[in-house]
Amino acid sequence: MCGIVGYIGEDQAAPILLNGLEKLEYRGYDSAGVAVCDGGSIQVEKCKGRLKVLADLIDQGEKIPGTVGIGHTRWATHGKPSDLNSHPHVSGQGKFAVVHNGIIENHLMLKEFLLKQGKQFLSETDTEVVAHLLEYYYQGDVLDAIIQVLHQVEGSYALGILCEDIPDQIFAVRKQSPLIIGLGQHENFIASDIPAILSKTREIYRLENNEIAQIKKDQVMIYDLEKNIVQKERCHIDWDISAAEKGGYEHFMFKEIMEQPKAIADTIQPRIQEGRIVLDDMTLTKEDLEQFRKISIVACGSAYHVGVVAKYVIEKLTRIPVDIDVASEFRYRNPIIDEKVLVIVISQSGETADTLAALHEAKRLGARVLSIVNVVGSAIANESDDVLYTWAGPEISVATTKAYSTQLTVVYLLAVYMADLMGLISRQEYQGYLDDLCHLPGQIEMILKKKDQLQTLASRYFNAKDIFFIGRNIDYAMSLEGSLKLKEISYIHSEAYAAGELKHGTISLIEDGTLVVALATQDTLFEKMMSNVQEVTARGAVVLGLTTEDHPEMEKSATHTFYIPKTNDLMLASLAVIPLQLFAYYVASMKGCDIDKPRNLAKSVTVE
Ligand code: G6P
Repeated sequence: MCGIVGYIGEDQAAPILLNGLEKLEYRGYDSAGVAVCDGGSIQVEKCKGRLKVLADLIDQGEKIPGTVGIGHTRWATHGKPSDLNSHPHVSGQGKFAVVHNGIIENHLMLKEFLLKQGKQFLSETDTEVVAHLLEYYYQGDVLDAIIQVLHQVEGSYALGILCEDIPDQIFAVRKQSPLIIGLGQHENFIASDIPAILSKTREIYRLENNEIAQIKKDQVMIYDLEKNIVQKERCHIDWDISAAEKGGYEHFMFKEIMEQPKAIADTIQPRIQEGRIVLDDMTLTKEDLEQFRKISIVACGSAYHVGVVAKYVIEKLTRIPVDIDVASEFRYRNPIIDEKVLVIVISQSGETADTLAALHEAKRLGARVLSIVNVVGSAIANESDDVLYTWAGPEISVATTKAYSTQLTVVYLLAVYMADLMGLISRQEYQGYLDDLCHLPGQIEMILKKKDQLQTLASRYFNAKDIFFIGRNIDYAMSLEGSLKLKEISYIHSEAYAAGELKHGTISLIEDGTLVVALATQDTLFEKMMSNVQEVTARGAVVLGLTTEDHPEMEKSATHTFYIPKTNDLMLASLAVIPLQLFAYYVASMKGCDIDKPRNLAKSVTVE
């Protein structure tokens, strides 16, 4: 969703802002803008559309002088995408310019108040109230004005603020929405996400809720809401720059698919020490696990699909009942949660608004919260009792691949760890699972080598109107993810169905030539799946069967067969997802879709 960048230093700000915003494009946006101060007034340029439109408008930034500025990419929530609704927003007399991520929930009430004070609004956004309020409270001290405004606004925000009277400073503040301060030599930055500043610096401060940063080119001061100075610890970002660049690949999605063996190995290897699973700073004990009456998993999107797999895996290994909820449903269904429930929150970004709200609800009800997160220091990570990081590195493509795969890997590690702690699996079984885990990266490499087969299949079906995915148990969970991957990037209508449920409705949609992707990787369910394949072929479906190498009989029923290597049933999801990702990618590529930035979608959904 929205992105924020700010620069203060000795170089011309606008080109640096554009460059930073470009690195945040992946988050999803529909308009962009910059505000730059060159010692005098603040110049604002903003427009609807891609960043390129803005860049052309300001001659790649060259047209705007000044070494201090803030920039923004907007994903519309309050007010349609338009030039006027784009950020930055400026106060009535032009004293303040503001960029904002998040939502000011009480903006209508504040707007009414400001209208009564004679303020005129130019946009339909919630953000504009912040600019006007700053000017309203400003009496010569920007920090005081910001603090007063923060006492008025409700909701979530990361704000970048310029004040015309103090042209050598940027102010930044956050609550719920993330914001970092990049620390350079005679230059400093603000950004909503690390890739925006990675080419400039790796030293950062992570701003915490209600901390206000006053940033000069040679100094960064952080204050709390009482104006006390807050001492911050620097963090070093050890990402390789190439991790956030395409590195010769046409799309981030493809690059990230190909990175999966390494990402999974990076997630597993540090956690297997001397033949044992070592889970970071995990504080859950055997006694804790034995007193949980259930585990409740909450997540959104693909992370939710990981949760669906996790239900099968954790229940099988620990025999603790597992619920799985979409976070936006969980928070409003009055869930039966108490201190005897372990809530597992799964989120790549660690900032998805609904997932964070579900976490808050779980904690309010007394649950213990363990999160599986990719972004270190994110809100979800910070607020959980235990965190397991996925170590996938930056994921830029909106459609997740390597983050999804590493989440699955952490689920396996966690489930085996718990089963062992509870004494539910033998030494031999434990060792078997560890061996299988360690083989996953190599097995995925083998599947990736067969990518041409999927490209050929995609070339036959990329014009399909509807594609169905069917499977049972974990294969059903994989169908959900395969179907989502396909529809989000190729815009082909697709549905995932539990194969046994097909004849209760969806089968009426199968007609001559409909493509059905049938997943049959689970040994015990293979025969059942073959019956379902027969059901759809009898109605004219073309079937792409996905199974393990020891089931050549798939070829008798399916039109095409793709084989994946064998591993234990619980971990097959990690192998089955690879051809599904590649198929979706090639179909979208043949349709000429904007693969990394599908229409209307955002990487991190920071609004409800
Ligand atoms: C968005 C993304 C999905 C992601 C979901 C949850 O919809 O496009 O790829 O699965 O958010 O995101 P999270 O960061 O919480 O995993």
